[in-house]
Amino acid sequence: MSRRRVAILISGRGSNMGALIEAARSPDFPAEIALVLANRPDAAGLEVAREAGIATASVDHKSHPDRESFDAALDAVLREHAIAFVCLAGFMRVLTDGFVERWQGRMINIHPSLLPLFRGIHTHRRALEEGVRVHGCTVHFVVPELDAGPIVAQAAVPVVPGDTEESLAARIIVQEHRLYPAALRMICAGDAWLEDGRVVFREGWDAGGALLSPPA
Ligand code: GRF
Repeated sequence: MSRRRVAILISGRGSNMGALIEAARSPDFPAEIALVLANRPDAAGLEVAREAGIATASVDHKSHPDRESFDAALDAVLREHAIAFVCLAGFMRVLTDGFVERWQGRMINIHPSLLPLFRGIHTHRRALEEGVRVHGCTVHFVVPELDAGPIVAQAAVPVVPGDTEESLAARIIVQEHRLYPAALRMICAGDAWLEDGRVVFREGWDAGGALLSPPA
């Protein structure tokens, strides 16, 4: 089995990064985490990745005059490391259309809501304000429009009386850590891919991993 060389892009603590690194330790995982790249040299996740023996790099957005030159620098680092696939994991920079198009079909993101609901930030607060009974997280291919890409997999969690932003976030992050490795596995194993703007599943594959629906 040839394992796809994956880069994880982070801005902060990198708990999803940690879940992906952990999953990729399994010899049957179809991807290897070849690089963790941050836009902040002090991102806490970089140290965690180093300790796990993974190559790290940072491209500080503050030392680039515009998005184009920042994205060009990101792209150069990804090429240097012969990266085939990119996972955004709490990467808090909006990428240029050019960069996104170059990685089209080869870049996914995890978002803390059941898309297409609650694109953008403060998703848990907005879910509580709207009074939804089901909330969750989504892994999707990245397209130029923010949080709008074709959906690969989702995990749904209940919203219960008394929930706060914090309790909801805590319930959902557990599912993020299950969902992201499952989605990356599906794609790198060739069970799911992007085709004509939609996610297609391999014929005969039951697509069970595309929905996690844990009990309350
Ligand atoms: C997660 O909630 C993820 O869904 C969002 O940013 C957060 C990153 O958290 N895109 P972590 O850095 O992976 O802990």
